[in-house]
Amino acid sequence: MQNKIATAKETLFEREVRQGLTAYPKHLSSKYFYDAVGDKLFQDIMALPEYYLTNCEHNILEAHKNEIAKHFAADGSPFSLFELGAGDGKKTKVLLEHFIDQKLNFDYRPIDISQNALDQLESSIKQELPKVEVSPLQGTYFDTLKNIGQEHQKRKIILFLGSNIGNLLHDQAIDFLKKLREVMQEGDLVFMGFDQKKDPQTILDAYNDPTKITAAFNKNILTRINTEMDANFNLDNFKHWEVYDPETGTAKSYLVSVKKQEVRIEQLELTVRFDAWESIHTEISQKYDDKVVEWLAEESGLSIETQFTDPKNYYKNYLFKK
Ligand code: AVJ
Repeated sequence: MQNKIATAKETLFEREVRQGLTAYPKHLSSKYFYDAVGDKLFQDIMALPEYYLTNCEHNILEAHKNEIAKHFAADGSPFSLFELGAGDGKKTKVLLEHFIDQKLNFDYRPIDISQNALDQLESSIKQELPKVEVSPLQGTYFDTLKNIGQEHQKRKIILFLGSNIGNLLHDQAIDFLKKLREVMQEGDLVFMGFDQKKDPQTILDAYNDPTKITAAFNKNILTRINTEMDANFNLDNFKHWEVYDPETGTAKSYLVSVKKQEVRIEQLELTVRFDAWESIHTEISQKYDDKVVEWLAEESGLSIETQFTDPKNYYKNYLFKK
């Protein structure tokens, strides 16, 4: 009886787990990696020597903060700096600090799916950069675009760092960029990080660290299903597996069932059967080149104002206007 009531009001997470684990091939969305444990694991990933993305972007922001500030300040009119998927805001703080030094007239609006991440970010900014006016907003990228669209008092600059766009397939990315374009007015800007195609081994290593933190991060989605939906996934029965296709630039993460097994998800009244070596696809981390970014911009009606890169060309930040 209780289960029936719960089924009637299934959360989005529950619905997506039901859909993904009854589909063939099985899949789960990487947006569910991020709870308090997942946020911490992702912070640990960002500190891994193999996970070059964070360092590269940090270096780009540090090296080019002056020029970036000039683009953002434009005519000197005030702007709101929205950040989609702000996370711990570590890289963004490089810019925030510089903007305060330069006395730019702005406020900071971090957005994240994780309330936990936002709480930590807000308190750390109040402590480290008390002059920054900060107002966080919890939600998915798509929910919060609506809110952004209603703000027209100031110029809008939208940050989307960390190659978070790489979690989207090209069609979804175009859809997303189009929605961004719709909330933009003349003079508004989008500043976005895109991890670049490079030696495939370097990419595989970034998602296959020997300390197994990335594996734990990937498996955190199973842990969440265990605790939030009363399930009995045995994490040792799944293996983290990463592939990279240099032609498409797509890195994909899987959890592979190491044996034939059944998993019960009480809350969903669902038994999931796995054949030996059956996979669950959990994440895509798309890698880009200029051609692909130019194509994405064109398809979504944005134009590239400029781009910034690191000395190895591992990573690029692009500035788009309407
Ligand atoms: C936060 C989506 C950019 O895909 O590189 C890190 C997440 N997954 N290691 C990425 C992630 C495995 C990350 N993004």
